[in-house]
Amino acid sequence: MRTASDRNQLLLKEVNHRVNNSLALVASMLHLKAATVEDDVKVHLDEASHRITAIARAHQRLYQTEMFEKIELGPYLEDICQSFSKSMPNCHLHVSTAAGIEVPPDQAIPVALLVNELITNSAKYGHPNSKCEVWIEVVRADAKISVSVRDKGIGLPPNFESTSHKGLGMRLINAFAAQLGGKLVIRRHAPGVEFVLTFPIGRNEFDPYLGQRR
Ligand SMILES: Nc1ncnc2c1ncn2[C@@H]1O[C@H](COP(=O)(O)OP(=O)(O)OP(=O)(O)O)[C@@H](O)[C@H]1O
Ligand SMILES: [Mg+2]
Repeated sequence: MRTASDRNQLLLKEVNHRVNNSLALVASMLHLKAATVEDDVKVHLDEASHRITAIARAHQRLYQTEMFEKIELGPYLEDICQSFSKSMPNCHLHVSTAAGIEVPPDQAIPVALLVNELITNSAKYGHPNSKCEVWIEVVRADAKISVSVRDKGIGLPPNFESTSHKGLGMRLINAFAAQLGGKLVIRRHAPGVEFVLTFPIGRNEFDPYLGQRR
């Protein structure tokens, strides 16, 4: 039994390694293509490439730990933010997370991708011409987890509407929040903006295998 289980773990590791390599390959193909097209198309291809890299990163970090069923959210998000900072050295991320918050991988990945979209927006819009600084905080209250992403940049435009916005970023953010069975609250500060996601531990509304709601 133990040999069979060890072999399964090894195969799972190998499959995840391959998935990760394939995602990295797709991202670099898009990036190479971006170098050959007009500027307005280039921006979109590079953005798609960055999003795929974020998925690969979220996936890779998760399976490096060999904890396939549960992952500690704090160190996982710290890792994700560290890789983000490496690709955007102008952006300083302060991550503060409570210890011992464990979630299944199908919750950890959407949380990481949602945080990735929010910090990308803070860097892109909150601090268009200056050094970017973002605060990420994870806390647990009873059976719920709150993830807050805050910047002290120029703030949201006055007419901003989170649900009717046409940007892919806000649509993904709302979709990940719904997938987690969570709620997203947006707080305007002076200066900057804060997005707070609150979701119940261990419940993912979306079945990644069936591609539909449970
Ligand atoms: N931290 C922020 N500070 C200031 N404005 C923001 C911030 N986050 C979002 N916004 C505003 O919200 C808008 C919507 O963001 P969203 O991520 O949906 O789209 P986008 O970033 O323009 O495009 P995409 O994400 O598809 O590349 C942005 O255009 C920007 O005006
Ligand atoms: Mg965006």
